[in-house]
Amino acid sequence: MNVPFFDLKRQYAALRTEIEPAVLEVLGSCGYIGGKTVEAFEKKMSAYLHAGYAVSCGNGTEALVLALRACGIGPGDEVITTPFTFFATAEAIASIGAVPVFADICLHDFNLDPAGIEAKITDKTRAVLPVHLFGAPCDMDALTAVAREHGLKVIEDAAQAIGCEYRGRKIGSTADVSCFSFYPTKNLGGMGDGGMVTTNREETALILRSLREHGAGKRGAEARALLDGGTAETIPLQETAPGVDPYKYQNALIGYNSRLDAVQAAALSVKLGHLDAYNAAREEIAAWYSQNLCSQVTLPKARPEGKHCWHQYVIRTKRKEELCSYLHAQGVGVGTFYPIPLHLQKAFDGLGYSEGSLPNAEQAARETVCLPVFPELTREEQDFVIEQVNTFFSR
Ligand SMILES: Cc1ncc(COP(=O)(O)O)c(C=O)c1O
Repeated sequence: MNVPFFDLKRQYAALRTEIEPAVLEVLGSCGYIGGKTVEAFEKKMSAYLHAGYAVSCGNGTEALVLALRACGIGPGDEVITTPFTFFATAEAIASIGAVPVFADICLHDFNLDPAGIEAKITDKTRAVLPVHLFGAPCDMDALTAVAREHGLKVIEDAAQAIGCEYRGRKIGSTADVSCFSFYPTKNLGGMGDGGMVTTNREETALILRSLREHGAGKRGAEARALLDGGTAETIPLQETAPGVDPYKYQNALIGYNSRLDAVQAAALSVKLGHLDAYNAAREEIAAWYSQNLCSQVTLPKARPEGKHCWHQYVIRTKRKEELCSYLHAQGVGVGTFYPIPLHLQKAFDGLGYSEGSLPNAEQAARETVCLPVFPELTREEQDFVIEQVNTFFSR
């Protein structure tokens, strides 16, 4: 038997009759950028997450960039984050001239350890950027308490955490800003790139909407005023010819072109209707693995005050390379997220970290193996994965 690590075709086949008419309607409407389909998806997302405002954008990396900029973070500012994540988390910080400051993780959930944050705070620190890695919610109470005590923003990378909860509230509604990715393999995945930032602050949403469209228009001028410490009302109207938007070609901020296509919004709206069922299926698979995998592997643990969304099911073993080769030979697809912690990546060699700087992240990188987990994975396939892992350790 061959068990793929992930299989998008199964989901597409099951949703084809819903997705294709929705996408065709957008194609026929010729409204490809912005417009009612995108607005409707943003509304559905803010309702689903119970977040005040949902601002869609081009992808999850740009969601992080927009969120950082909307919090007023810029060159020279420091942002404390995890070294055990996808590269984009810290790349977004560095790409705006700010400095990622890496703090170590907890090995039991692979997330930023709140106990290590205080020691990393300097007078340049502006924000803490936790990542709910693999769909496991971070210890948000502890992280937020440290951040609030030091006047720092909490910007969460929720790219892998759509549908997760912390103390009964959806991730995406409790931090200052939350960033999502709709990369096709995410729990809510598009048919291409897509992203979103959510916030409960109207001013932040206004800045986000401006930055995603070149900082142009009336909104750009208002956003600039807000970032400069003024209020929206302080912007004077410009005189123009009748019928011409006085702000359309005025750019008050250096922003981006980061918009979600209407085609993506249409497909994502359909999939959002199935998200809870998909996450429930992932949870069932995770429970089955945890019940049946042998005791030689360290199993993932769900935080009792949170709801995991099982974006990945990640075990730990000191025999990672051997296990991966064995599973591969037996026809089981595996992932190894993430083999190099970010503080040891060549791209960050100027930051002064070395082997041993962040031991838990380094250990996680050496030991993690991700097993197949996606809603359409059959019980027979799950049993085959379990059998192969257990056979490897019993030989
Ligand atoms: C934790 C994390 N952050 C950021 C991103 C970036 O998202 P995107 O690929 O949509 O730019 C991803 C996904 O790829 C991710 O997993």
